[in-house]
Amino acid sequence: MSKGWNGRKPAGRIAYVDGRYMPHGSAGVHIEDRGLQLGDAVYEVCGVSDGRLMDEAEHLDRLERSLRAIEIALPMPRPALALVMRETVRRNGVRNGLLYLQISRGVARRDHPIPKVSPRPSLVLTVRSVPAGEFEKRRQDGVTVITRPDERWARRDIKTVQLLPNLLAKTAARRAGAYEAWLVDDAGLVTEGSSTNAWIVDAEGNLRTRPLGNDILPGVTRRVIFEAAEVAQLPIVQLPFSVAEALNAREAFISSATGIMPVTGIDGRRVGDGKPGPVTRRVQELYGLTSAGRAAKSGT
Ligand code: PDD
Repeated sequence: MSKGWNGRKPAGRIAYVDGRYMPHGSAGVHIEDRGLQLGDAVYEVCGVSDGRLMDEAEHLDRLERSLRAIEIALPMPRPALALVMRETVRRNGVRNGLLYLQISRGVARRDHPIPKVSPRPSLVLTVRSVPAGEFEKRRQDGVTVITRPDERWARRDIKTVQLLPNLLAKTAARRAGAYEAWLVDDAGLVTEGSSTNAWIVDAEGNLRTRPLGNDILPGVTRRVIFEAAEVAQLPIVQLPFSVAEALNAREAFISSATGIMPVTGIDGRRVGDGKPGPVTRRVQELYGLTSAGRAAKSGT
């Protein structure tokens, strides 16, 4: 198991950019990188727990799927990419935090069509420590959400860096004193959060979340919850829910690489008794067990 950078704390953050490990402060991409100019790029965010990447294989699977959807080739074979991911974590000496990985189509003269001759895709990785407690308090106490119209494009299943609607919704949430924005489709049904999947525990006690499709991101954490719920025989259904149903639900929560957080209020109204509920606690516990197992299995 890696113990960080020679077991010592590194002097500063290290980024990986197109084949080189560089000081974070001086790392950069070309001004004609298509990711920068056109949002022609996809990304992944992976949790780092005790120096290990969480759910590494699932993130790589989704990355490959996103790349295929927009016709970008993996910049290196998958095992090599996995090594770069682990090495970037190691060089940063991060025990608990988040890895960010972005692949853009590469550098080309600015023009809309995908270039006939593919540029070399560019690969950027950064890692940051998450101070103990930054997410822990939210996982314990829960968070509140506001609802906003879902103004994103129709292929939300592809994890692209085109996040303007997401960041505007998230900003509105923060300005309203909430943590997350739940996005609502034209039929009044919740799609997902601006950077999380959305769940309720309905009146029948089922875990309920929207089915996979083009309108939500296939969350890795969502998938792990499904596997854990199956093993623990928690009833789970893939069925969209409205804001009214969420407000009448027993419990609600959000899931992402930053963990599972109880949702205690929506648009200023309480969910259930306004406290994290027992089913959410059970899911958090199961996720902890499952993902710890997965980190160990990934061998990082
Ligand atoms: N967000 N839905 C959206 C729109 C997301 O951006 C994310 C992840 C999720 C949850 O997916 P996962 O369980 O694989 O993290 C759902 C990451 C954390 C981000 O953009 O920072």
